[in-house]
Amino acid sequence: MPRAHGNKLISRHLKKELQNLNEITKIKINTNVSEDLLNIANGVFSPLKGFLCYNDLENVVKEKRLESDTPWTIPILLDSDKKDLSEGDTVLLEDKENGVRALLDIEEIYTYDKKTLSQEIYRTQDVKHPGVANIYKMRQKFIGGKISLIDYKSREFDDYNLSPKETRFLFKEKGWKDIVAFQTRNPPHMGHEYVQKTALTFVDGIFINPIIGKKKTGDFRDEVILKSYEALMKNYYLKERAVMSILRTSMKYAGPREAIHHAIMRKNYGCTHFIVGRDHAGVSNYYGPYDAHDIFSEFPDLGIIPIFFRSFSKCSKCGSVVNDKICPHDQEYHINFSGKKIREILRNGEIPSEDMMRKEVSEMILKFEKPFVE
Ligand code: ADX
Repeated sequence: MPRAHGNKLISRHLKKELQNLNEITKIKINTNVSEDLLNIANGVFSPLKGFLCYNDLENVVKEKRLESDTPWTIPILLDSDKKDLSEGDTVLLEDKENGVRALLDIEEIYTYDKKTLSQEIYRTQDVKHPGVANIYKMRQKFIGGKISLIDYKSREFDDYNLSPKETRFLFKEKGWKDIVAFQTRNPPHMGHEYVQKTALTFVDGIFINPIIGKKKTGDFRDEVILKSYEALMKNYYLKERAVMSILRTSMKYAGPREAIHHAIMRKNYGCTHFIVGRDHAGVSNYYGPYDAHDIFSEFPDLGIIPIFFRSFSKCSKCGSVVNDKICPHDQEYHINFSGKKIREILRNGEIPSEDMMRKEVSEMILKFEKPFVE
């Protein structure tokens, strides 16, 4: 099993009893930030111990690495417009909605040019890009510093939520040495299944790790993703070869940079391999279909092996699922597993063809009155 990113699995849970919490300055944080906070505390974001300070951010933006030279591609930031804060202060971060509280030792308060941030992270400054829109919604100041989690409330889907410590234990218990991770934000179509099973052929087990958290309008709702995966796994996977657990974080839609970030998180969960298919973490046409493959060549020191897949489709001549490395037939014989097309069919209450999606999966999706984020 690989060591955690940066060599040590981070745990930032406050151990000592706290008094006088009422006297500490409070900063309200939203769900996105509190999810980042939990991911820092539980080691999903190892080696981060807190929110980025300026030098780390500048390095991430320009070099795709932390100041320590450890690969890191997505900035983890705390924005605030709270006045009267000073470097050296300890403050209480609070997300009342989700019952998350943590201490933050403020190391640095700084600003950063949002245009540069958008251009470098998302390769565009177009506010129609959901990630860019989020950057422009952030407040003007960023606060960097280490956090210590005090407490958090249990939430929906917690039964599906394993921490890196737990997955590492589970993989060991199962005797898995080579473990391939699969990132997703969608219910499984046949392309997803093929990618997963092809990769699984070469390793001991697959870790299916859907992202649960803020997505854009029109994406599938969290519960729909989980239930449809359960339907697929129950009918078409070996129990002893596949594990599913959620990752609570927002999708950034940062394409190639997010692919690296996704791989790093799965390394922290204990995986040795990571699947990268067509247009990984992409949105609209901001990235080329295989940009997320190319970026891995910049990271020979990543510590998790990417497995690249060309786009799978169904070929009526071959009578099987193929991609352009293995099938000589023209496009006219191919049915693409387009997520967009599948969503349209389901939105009309119809069942997609079984060439595209397993019947058990589409039936599960159609059981939901509102399968999509509105
Ligand atoms: S993503 O935003 O999480 O990348 P999605 O859940 O659709 O979106 O994809 C999960 C993974 O499957 C990604 O690595 C993606 O590139 C890959 N993938 C999706 N569809 C295909 C396909 N038809 N052929 C090959 N890989 C695919």
